[in-house]
Amino acid sequence: MPGSPRHLVIGASGQVGGALWKALSADSRLTVTGTYGSRETPGLYPLDMTDATRVEEAFSAWRPDVVWLPAAQADVDACQRDPDGSARINVTGPYTVMQAAAERRATLVFYSTDYVFDGEAGPYDETAPTHPLQHYGSQKTEAERLLLQYEKTVVIRPAWIYSREPGPRNFIWRLVHAARTHQPIRAAVDQISTPTPADALATMSIRAVDDGFRGILHLVGPERLSRYQLTENILRLAGLTNVTIEPVTLALLKLPAPRPLNGGLITQYSTYRITESLHDLPWDQFR
Ligand SMILES: NC(=O)c1ccc[n+]([C@@H]2O[C@H](COP(=O)([O-])OP(=O)(O)OC[C@H]3O[C@@H](n4cnc5c(N)ncnc54)[C@H](OP(=O)(O)O)[C@@H]3O)[C@@H](O)[C@H]2O)c1
Repeated sequence: MPGSPRHLVIGASGQVGGALWKALSADSRLTVTGTYGSRETPGLYPLDMTDATRVEEAFSAWRPDVVWLPAAQADVDACQRDPDGSARINVTGPYTVMQAAAERRATLVFYSTDYVFDGEAGPYDETAPTHPLQHYGSQKTEAERLLLQYEKTVVIRPAWIYSREPGPRNFIWRLVHAARTHQPIRAAVDQISTPTPADALATMSIRAVDDGFRGILHLVGPERLSRYQLTENILRLAGLTNVTIEPVTLALLKLPAPRPLNGGLITQYSTYRITESLHDLPWDQFR
């Protein structure tokens, strides 16, 4: 890429988008533009990716070489409650962005999920056949299929993302907040996955794209554990050792959307294995 490569992060107000935005902005050789959806954020521009006219205008103005697309309706139960509205965000929006990226021959990096699998036989590598259980997973599977028609697409699949973000979208924050406010804490013993730190996910995604990676890449943290074990670890690391966690089955939680049970991801590409785990977070921020 001659000159200063132009990067566009769509959904930079989110957990992963924020980490990407920060990591890319730290490199002074790059021109980085970031957008938000509904949460006005300093330094970012508004962009609703379901509005094709606005997407076209944004691409004409910013002329990106690399487009990062973590933007989504990532609330699995919200997708189950509103399949049509969420499909507009999770399928139509990404397809619109793909068309704009393809017109300019930009690299497109789309964030998908481990929920493209059914959790019958995890952990899954990149070659495993998809079989989603709920609307969110079906939408992501369909978006992957559409976007991979463009040969400069990279599909990155993380799982159970956590970050330092102080807010309800980060499950660590939600859990610590619940423990501090003495709410009852229940966690599924039979739901297993591979939690993924947002910062390391961003760094490794950038490395893969710099290397010219194309196709599907699983990027997850090194541990595979149940929600119950994860909850125990988080509370211990946050110094909340007197909190009682009720072990339950996922079915008992009666969540609107079914989830994969024996899930999680592994990668065939050892170069891109994330080694950072929960222990490496700056826990002082949560204490
Ligand atoms: N969170 C997880 O545990 C998890 C696990 C596996 C995969 N993933 C996938 O990883 C990606 C990143 O997840 P995340 O946790 O970072 O999500 P997040 O924190 O909920 O962020 C979603 C981002 O998308 C933006 N957005 C929503 N609707 C939009 C629209 N119509 N147009 C443009 N932007 C829009 C949001 O903007 P505003 O906030 O400003 O509205 C926000 O910046 C998603 O694709 C998700 O499906 C997440």
